Amino acid sequence: MILEGKVAIVTGAGRGLGKGISKKLCAEGAKVVVCDILGDIAEACVQEIKAQGGEAAAFAGDIAKLEDVQALYAFAKDTYGKLDIIVNNAGINRDTMLHKMTDDAWNQVIGVNLTGTFYMVREAAKIMREQESGRIINISSMSWLGNVGQANYAASKAGVVGLTKTACRELARKNITCNAICPGFIDTDMTRGVPEKVWDLMVGKIPAGRAGDAADVGSLIAYLASDEAGYINGQVIEVSGGMVL
Ligand code: NAI
Repeated sequence: MILEGKVAIVTGAGRGLGKGISKKLCAEGAKVVVCDILGDIAEACVQEIKAQGGEAAAFAGDIAKLEDVQALYAFAKDTYGKLDIIVNNAGINRDTMLHKMTDDAWNQVIGVNLTGTFYMVREAAKIMREQESGRIINISSMSWLGNVGQANYAASKAGVVGLTKTACRELARKNITCNAICPGFIDTDMTRGVPEKVWDLMVGKIPAGRAGDAADVGSLIAYLASDEAGYINGQVIEVSGGMVL
């Protein structure tokens, strides 16, 4: 167990990737604060983890709201007394072509994916600078390179890459790493929302011949969160089954 004794926060962890990541971190010995805007699914995830012998606690909060982010960090400290790992996974999409994109669709996606991640990283930086250790892992997306129908999402995920690399430059001397993961096409509620034709098109682009699953991403995150990965910093790492080569 490579994360024995560590404490983590995972956002957007009630389902999909975040849930898979939380389960993997717990299986590796970490205690995890499972944060989601939907409190009931956060609690259900915690119950699953506990049934498998892991330790986790649920927190209902919206990472796009600074007061919720501050309350989340306070909850983690009160519950487990320390903080080693932050996985910024919560994200949303509001896909539409650029010429039809509303201000609302833009602001909502930037608000959660970029500003929310900024709030999370800023709070982490305060705590981790003080303790001179920590691991921050931000979930970006292959879409950060640009994708039709995703101007808001792509811009937010490109912003996450810039934030990640800056955090690396500012925090590395304090023994803190900050890396970004770009999952390719992963089977979750988010991707199950696409039309069947798009699903087949996306899977057709993947040399592995299948969509990824949360465990594929969780394994890399557990490693990056471990003491073994202290010299991997500021990187953008794809987990896509070879979707982009
Ligand atoms: P999902 O939609 O299945 O799960 C996202 C979770 O985040 C949900 O439980 C939701 O309630 C929660 N959430 C949404 N807004 C929140 C907020 N403001 N505060 C707290 N929690 C919030 O999505 P999925 O597929 O699991 O995606 C997770 C992350 O991975 C996202 O950042 C997404 O952009 C990214 N990603 C996903 C890919 C995929 O193929 N599924 C590919 C590349 C990136």
